[in-house]
Amino acid sequence: MELGLAGKSVLITGAASGIGLASVEAFAAEGARVLAVDINAGVLHAAISALGNEHIKAQVADVTDAQQVQAAVARAVAEFGRLDVVFANAGGAIPTPTDQQDLEDYRRIMALNHDGVYFAIHAALPVMLAQGKGCFIVTSSGAGLNSAPGLTVYGAAKAGVISMARSIATEYGARGIRANVIAPGPMLTPPVREWLSGIPQGYERFCKQVPSGRMGTAEDIADAALFLASDRAEFVNGVVLPVDGALHARLSSPSLD
Ligand SMILES: NC(=O)c1ccc[n+]([C@@H]2O[C@H](COP(=O)([O-])OP(=O)(O)OC[C@H]3O[C@@H](n4cnc5c(N)ncnc54)[C@H](O)[C@@H]3O)[C@@H](O)[C@H]2O)c1
Repeated sequence: MELGLAGKSVLITGAASGIGLASVEAFAAEGARVLAVDINAGVLHAAISALGNEHIKAQVADVTDAQQVQAAVARAVAEFGRLDVVFANAGGAIPTPTDQQDLEDYRRIMALNHDGVYFAIHAALPVMLAQGKGCFIVTSSGAGLNSAPGLTVYGAAKAGVISMARSIATEYGARGIRANVIAPGPMLTPPVREWLSGIPQGYERFCKQVPSGRMGTAEDIADAALFLASDRAEFVNGVVLPVDGALHARLSSPSLD
């Protein structure tokens, strides 16, 4: 299937690891020009230079700082002449019992998972409107669709970005803007791998609960992002796509398993 991504200008946040890094690789493999944005300078530069592709540029930026996000968008436009796709993907949280979280945790989790997405949309939207075309993809989570123990704040942030994307799709769809959401299930990316390694039989216990029988990979999400960004998804706007091995589809009534 021809995706029509060759030559497109793509900005991806959280690009030094996991889903973001797999997406940088996937978009570049389709011939896109990619600005890989991450807060972790050392890991980002090492990861991007390992890919060895002159069409991938690295930009160190903290998505919780609106000025740094603005600078990243300006860099993408300066490097590539336009900005076709923004994949607002940076995020994450370690499950912690809600009664053990303080307000600093609340602010930090909201800043990364909620504000960071809005700052990317806010910075890139004028560029895309001037072009008459643009595409946002936002990484939410199963925790944003439903709930997960220890992820009260994270879930609220991830639910918020779903609303943000839907609003952008409806408010600006007629002006060529698309905004869609990917809601990953449990993915075996570095932070989750590390977290599960500290839990007895963590990986096996997770897999048992996923109807497809495995955890997802960063590449599963990157593939979904390629489709949503592609010309093949021109009429796909304002949707939330769970990529979770049917975890979200499962009836959540008591079972005898
Ligand atoms: N892994 C999962 O199971 C899972 C499930 C649902 C949703 N998600 C979401 O997927 C996205 C990617 O997660 P991942 O598992 O690939 O994690 P990851 O830790 O492998 O990658 C996240 C990247 O974001 C970067 N980052 C962190 N704070 C940043 C900031 N302030 N500014 C810029 N970059 C920053 C990190 O340096 C890291 O490179 C996140 O939004 C996460 O919430 C992941």
